[in-house]
Amino acid sequence: MTIVVSHQKGGVGKSTIAWNLATNLQKKHQVELVDLDIQKTLTYANEIRKQNKQLTPLTIKNFRTPEDLKKYIQGDSKKRLSIIDVGGFDSSMNRLAIVMADMIITPVSDKSFELLGIKTFEKIISQLNELVEHDIKIKVLLNNLNPKKSKLDSLKSFITKSPHFELLDTILRHRADYDKSAGEGQNVIEYDKESKASKEIRDLTREIKTILKI
Ligand SMILES: Nc1ncnc2c1ncn2[C@@H]1O[C@H](COP(=O)(O)OP(=O)(O)OP(=O)(O)O)[C@@H](O)[C@H]1O
Ligand SMILES: [Mg+2]
Repeated sequence: MTIVVSHQKGGVGKSTIAWNLATNLQKKHQVELVDLDIQKTLTYANEIRKQNKQLTPLTIKNFRTPEDLKKYIQGDSKKRLSIIDVGGFDSSMNRLAIVMADMIITPVSDKSFELLGIKTFEKIISQLNELVEHDIKIKVLLNNLNPKKSKLDSLKSFITKSPHFELLDTILRHRADYDKSAGEGQNVIEYDKESKASKEIRDLTREIKTILKI
């Protein structure tokens, strides 16, 4: 199975989500994290993780060319769960991951510029959809929302206007623990298993497992 966390816009939470999912899912699945971001954020976070003997480091894969990435995804198996973190830019590697993945997760907040950013992403998806036989569906994950914001109807209807976008039920709110935990090489559950962020990541993990039937 291959999950890609993708959005051409930078700073929306792709690495945060890929990191929390990969480190949480690796307890029960054979997870490999593919770091396609030239900044190598998660490769560095994993270096910090390696220093804590109580934690299991992630297996991280790097690919230089689209051909190498293609071969890797083609070699996918039921047992392996690959989670791909792409950089906040458009590239042939990122497009390939979108076309080949079993699930595409796109984090979006309710900030105006981010909402405008998904319009560009939608155009990329529409173009890619023309090139493939299957219908590309994006699982949009509302991320970094103000914990107090409750009226989400207009935000949700804006997103689901696109035939390519489906909303995940789980919503991740703005929580300081995402930053604090990553700095320690941990996920939010390892950092504080009672926190609200932990509950949200558990919910997200469960929702994804249900969709993928894993
Ligand atoms: N739900 C959240 N609550 C609080 N902070 C968050 C949340 N999601 C992301 N952030 C913070 O936002 C910043 C950007 O997140 P992140 O690096 O994951 O984005 P990205 O999409 O991977 O960026 P890039 O495109 O540059 O790779 C980080 O400081 C991260 O801690
Ligand atoms: Mg990133």
